[in-house]
Amino acid sequence: MGDMVILAGRVLCYERSPFLGEPEKAARVDEAVALSDGRILVSGTLSDLRAAHPEAQVVNHGDKVILPGFVDAHAHYPQTAIIASWGKRLIDWLNTYTFPEEVRFADPAYAAEIAARYLDLVTANGTTTVCSYCTIHPGSAEALFAEAQKRDMRLAAGKTCMDRDTAPEGLRDTAQSAYDDSRALIGRWHGAGRLTYAITPRFSPTSTQEQLEALGALWAEHPDCLMQTHLSEQTDEIEWVLGLYPEARDYLDTYERHGLLGERGLYGHAIHLEPREKDRLREVGAGLVHCPTSNTFIGSGLFDMDGLMAAGHRVALATDTGGGSSFSMLRTMAAAYEVGQLRGRALHAAELLWLATAGSAQALHMGHAIGTIAPGMEADLVVLDLAATPALAQRTARARDIWEALFATIMLGDDRCIAEVRINGRLAG
Ligand code: GUN
Ligand code: ZN
Repeated sequence: MGDMVILAGRVLCYERSPFLGEPEKAARVDEAVALSDGRILVSGTLSDLRAAHPEAQVVNHGDKVILPGFVDAHAHYPQTAIIASWGKRLIDWLNTYTFPEEVRFADPAYAAEIAARYLDLVTANGTTTVCSYCTIHPGSAEALFAEAQKRDMRLAAGKTCMDRDTAPEGLRDTAQSAYDDSRALIGRWHGAGRLTYAITPRFSPTSTQEQLEALGALWAEHPDCLMQTHLSEQTDEIEWVLGLYPEARDYLDTYERHGLLGERGLYGHAIHLEPREKDRLREVGAGLVHCPTSNTFIGSGLFDMDGLMAAGHRVALATDTGGGSSFSMLRTMAAAYEVGQLRGRALHAAELLWLATAGSAQALHMGHAIGTIAPGMEADLVVLDLAATPALAQRTARARDIWEALFATIMLGDDRCIAEVRINGRLAG
C-alpha cells in the first residue's frame, strides 16, 4: 500500500445509467477518491479517507471534477495525420485521403511514430482507452499494442482486413492471410496485460465473402475477442453493399450470415438502419458506436440516440479519428449534443459524460474494469478544469450546479481543460 494517493476534488461516481430517467440523479459527487496499486480503493469524504489512510499522499484538486478517463470506442489511429481533410464524402474520402495514408503503414517505423503520436494526443485529451482500427499490415497493430503496453493503457485494436479489389493495390490481404495474421496477433496480444484484440473486417465493401467467412470462423474460435466493423454510415454505401451482396437481406445480413454478428461486435456509425437490423442488433446485445463529429464532417447523417436507447440498445461514443474531426471526447460529446438537438432531443450532461465513460466501456465489455469510479476499478482517471479558459471560467462561474458547469465545459472545453490524467493509477504525460 506504499503508493497510496488520495485525490480530492469533485469525484463523479455514477450509480446507474442516466438514460433510465432523472439523469442528474444517476451520479453521486464524492469529495475524494483513494487509489492504490493502480486500483480505486474507495471514494467518500476527504476526512474519512485521510483518517483511514494517514500515510497516503493527498493531491487537492479543489473545484476540479474527477472522472473516469474517457473511452473512445471507435478510432483509426493510422488516420491521425490526415484528420480534418476537406471536401469529400465517405467513398471519395477513403480513396482520396485515407487509403494513400494507410499504405505508408507498411513501414513499421512510420507505424511506430504515428502510434506514439496518436496515444500522446488522445491522452492529452483525457482519453485513457481507445478501440482502434489499424491498417492491413500486421506491423501496424504490433506498433499500437507495443506503444499501449509501454504506457500500461487498456486498449483494443486489430489489424484491418480488406481483400476485395475495391481496396487499392498495396492495401489488400487475402482471406487466408487475414485469418492467419489476425490469429497470430490474438496469440501475441489478446489478454496481454490490459490489451484486447478486436477482429477487424473494415466493412463489407472491401471484403470478399470468403474473408468475412474466415473472420467469422476466427471469432468463433476466439469468442472473447471483440469484433469491429462499419455499418450503414452513408446511403450510397448501403446501395453499394446491396449491389455487391445481392443475396443479403440488408447490410447487417452481410455480417450476420458470415458469423460476424454478436454481443462483442461493435458496429460503427449505424445510422441508416432497417427495422430488422435494429431488432437483430438489440437481440444479440451488439454495440452501436455513435461517431457524431464524423457523421457531420463526412455528411453521413444523424444517429438516432433516443430511439436506440429507448429500445434498449447498447450504445458507445467515439471520435472516429480521422473521419471524425477531433481527438477530443469533450468535442465529441458536444457534437452528440448538437446531433441530438437536430433530432429534437437535448441530451443531458450526465448522459453525455456517461456515454463517454461507462457507456463506451460497457460496449467494449470492459465495464467491469473501467468507465466508472468504484472500489476495485482500475484507476484510469481524468481531472477536468471547468475554468480552464476565460470563456469557460466566466460561464461556469454562473452555473447553479455541477451539471450546468459540466455542460458548459463539454460545449466550450478542449484539451486545456484536462488538468491531470492517470493511467492505471500513475500520472500520464
Ligand atoms: N468505412 C470504412 N472505412 C472507414 C473509415 O476509415 N472511416 C469511416 N468513417 N468510415 C469507414
Ligand atoms: Zn471508422
